Amino acid sequence: MKRRILVTSALPYINGSIHLGNMLEHIQTDIWVRFQKLRGHECLYVCADDTHGTGTMLHAEQAGVPPEALIEAMRQEHMRDFAGFGIEHDNYHSTHSEENRALSELIFERLREQGGIFTRDVAQLSDPERGLFLADRFVKGDCPRCGAADQYGDNCDACGATYDATELGRPRSLVSGAEPLVRQSEHYFFDLPQFSDMLKAWTRSGAVQPEVANKLAEWLDEGLKPWDISRDAPYFGFLIPGTKDKYFYVWMDAPVGYMASFKNLADARGDLDFDAFWKAGADTELHHFIGKDIVNFHALFWPAVLEASGFRKPTRIHTHGFVTVEGAKMSKSRGTLIKASTYLEHLNPEYLRYYFATKLNGTVDDYDINFEDFVQRVNADLVGKVVNIASRCAGFITRNFDGELSPELANEALWRRFVEASESIAERYEAGQVSRAVREITALADLANQYIAEREPWKLVKQEGALAEVQAVCSLGLNLFRILAIYLTPILPALSQAVSTFLNVGPLRWSDIDQPLLGGRINAYKALLTRMEKKQADRLVEASKEQPEAPLADAAGENDGEQALIAIEDFAKVRLKVARIASAEAVPAADKLLRLQLDLGDGHRQVMAGIKSAYDPASLIDRLVVVVANLAPRKMRFGTSEGMILAAGPGGEDIFLLSPDAGATPGMDVK
Ligand code: MSP
Ligand code: ZN
Repeated sequence: MKRRILVTSALPYINGSIHLGNMLEHIQTDIWVRFQKLRGHECLYVCADDTHGTGTMLHAEQAGVPPEALIEAMRQEHMRDFAGFGIEHDNYHSTHSEENRALSELIFERLREQGGIFTRDVAQLSDPERGLFLADRFVKGDCPRCGAADQYGDNCDACGATYDATELGRPRSLVSGAEPLVRQSEHYFFDLPQFSDMLKAWTRSGAVQPEVANKLAEWLDEGLKPWDISRDAPYFGFLIPGTKDKYFYVWMDAPVGYMASFKNLADARGDLDFDAFWKAGADTELHHFIGKDIVNFHALFWPAVLEASGFRKPTRIHTHGFVTVEGAKMSKSRGTLIKASTYLEHLNPEYLRYYFATKLNGTVDDYDINFEDFVQRVNADLVGKVVNIASRCAGFITRNFDGELSPELANEALWRRFVEASESIAERYEAGQVSRAVREITALADLANQYIAEREPWKLVKQEGALAEVQAVCSLGLNLFRILAIYLTPILPALSQAVSTFLNVGPLRWSDIDQPLLGGRINAYKALLTRMEKKQADRLVEASKEQPEAPLADAAGENDGEQALIAIEDFAKVRLKVARIASAEAVPAADKLLRLQLDLGDGHRQVMAGIKSAYDPASLIDRLVVVVANLAPRKMRFGTSEGMILAAGPGGEDIFLLSPDAGATPGMDVK
């Protein structure tokens, strides 16, 4: 039966570049989607950028651009990164879209009609200088329990206490440094507890993995609380209908973004029925792939909102663990926060797709990237075992038989074994146990290699009268290889395409597994995939450490501790000075770097600046810039950098140097 399946990955925040952690999720999703398509099902994969929140507003202000410009630039960057890894979204939209506004309003109206919305006054910290209510991660102070200084507004790193931001001692706003005031304002709440029974049943219905259901059961047993879905102006988001200064909290409209992206696709295509995928009772499937940090939003709030507004609930939520690099949480300073775009400058994306595939097991375990292991898997297993079958067999067929395959199978039993693995491998893919599919595939590759090693075509070819046997053995080898390539197609789409060209057949299809290639003519063999060197991975790690100054300071995400804002005291330590660019030259071996000699009035300094994509070195001579004068010198691959110049913009050609006012002179302090 042909299934109709809609699939999503979590919507990445626009406040940062795609890194290998996000990429794990999209690769996992893409493998599952490609598998479904290969099996002949109708499968649609939509995603979008998650754009709303105070962070976006501050971020755009800081960059001096309208939020829309920032959003579109980041969306383009994200789409480029995903395309680079062969991720095949059917649509990549934005939560800041008309479709999303209309759907969010509709859902809110339905929740209200259904009695699921009430208002209540909330006391919250507010920044008196900016007139801004402060989310927990924009406030720091002393822990009300243990007194530890410098703790965020929601919990204490030192003792683990959770509390309300209004309880902090000596609180301060991370936006302006001012002492926050407590202000009351009316908030809108979604009455989540109404849905406890539904959620208790739904979370045990097979819609989530068992370990996730257990975690959810803890929350459900503690008792759910109403969910605060509004934020006060100023905020970047959608206004709540009927209000002048209340906005939907970013997590309210973010999952609606899944629907909005689908709506946008359906409107563009014309042959997709929105209700067939979203109306309550729809007989299609809906699958969300997410990380374990956002499970409460997807497995509690979201199904309750859908239920309450007359839409269908997800068929399944596929939750994954976190990517670590060499055993540690990804971190910028260690060079383990590896951006997708940096990866693509050094390594073939199919290596990573394969490596993640060897790990994906359908659980919420974390996945470690260990580069020794990475090299080993790619070289020994993928290239050494699988691709090797083709390279061992192809030459004989091309040289001795003008590319023509044997008209029959030399060992039907062996071939049949490969064919018969198909259902078991398909079950693994379906269940998200991709690593087990890969293990079955490489075990089959071992059998094929063993067969070729036993038949020794390189010896046969020299024997009188054994030429037909050479053709038969190598043709079988290629037929076995073809089956493996079909099995690997969801993981390695580029390899699959190269194989279809080499074998001179159309796109590889699962339904062709039991149709051997007999008597056809193949094309001359060109390397389908080459070995990698550990050096390449080392360079990737080096380059990740050397990320030139980010064009935009990373504002914190709604859900992201990695990129927290710094405190005003930290910022006060930064000494900014005016400098004149005395000389500028491109660093030929670095894609982004210019080597600048800066005149600061009291001598020269070298600064490596990541602005090559935006500025021609000659145009910079004598230009005045603002430099961070007290940055510790950093040794980079191409020389030491003794400072940092300030620039903003989304990247590429759009990076803009900050210019001091006319009349400024080198060495002047910037206040
Ligand atoms: N914008 C929200 C999701 C809204 S969905 C309606 C968000 N964005 S995010 O950019 O922070 O994360 C996007 C996805 O990447 C999430 O599923 C998150 O779990 C995942 N990951 C972020 N860092 C990760 C790792 N280090 N490893 C694996 N996945 C990680 O959350
Ligand atoms: Zn504490």
